[in-house]
Amino acid sequence: MAAKRPVWQNLPMDYPGIDGFLGTRASLMLDVVFLAMFAIVPALGWSIWLVKFRRNYQLHKQIQVVLMVVLGVAVTLFELDVRFFSGWRERAEASPYYASVESAGPVWDAIFVNLLRRPATPGWVFRMLLIHLVFAVTTAILWVWVGVRALRRYPHPPVPGPHSRSHVLWGKIAAWDMLMTAVTGWIFYWLAFVA
Ligand code: HEM
Repeated sequence: MAAKRPVWQNLPMDYPGIDGFLGTRASLMLDVVFLAMFAIVPALGWSIWLVKFRRNYQLHKQIQVVLMVVLGVAVTLFELDVRFFSGWRERAEASPYYASVESAGPVWDAIFVNLLRRPATPGWVFRMLLIHLVFAVTTAILWVWVGVRALRRYPHPPVPGPHSRSHVLWGKIAAWDMLMTAVTGWIFYWLAFVA
């Protein structure tokens, strides 16, 4: 019986831009963001745990501000790379989930054909990308909004006060949104660059 070869040994790596380091078809920045999410999600969890169970508001604030800056820089570099340099579509084309399908059910068909005016319903790569983008875009907006309001409305150093109700509610929504962005991003990465 032939030994199973690691997946990356079968992959042609002749794509535009800089190849990543994880041995998949993804570009360098895609690999960086894919891995960074594994650090950002626990950091966010830790930051929320600090307020909830340790009442360490100052450290929560510091972690959240660092996360905002890191995410801002990462998203900018990532967008530049994906849009202009490393041709993610070419990298994803080898995936069995890339090609269009005849039908993916009435909901998906209506979204892509009627709403987005595409000639056909695409494969799971694009469908997952759409789901991911919904979470990613709302997270980016919520994140800045929750962060900027907190910086303006909490005293320095931060302690609970009149802004608490709104911050806790929207902070939780933003945190769940971020988690969903990470999970759908990981699934998209697998569908597009590993499968
Ligand atoms: C986008 C960034 C942020 C997110 C997603 C976020 C999220 C959260 C969440 C989910 C909680 C509630 C924890 C719980 O009790 O269940 C919380 C509490 C808190 N956060 Fe943030 N936070 C962010 C930025 C900030 C910043 C920049 C400050 C300070 C200027 C701040 C100050 C606080 C304080 C003082 C609390 C204690 C709860 C209270 O006010 O009663 N947060 N945050």
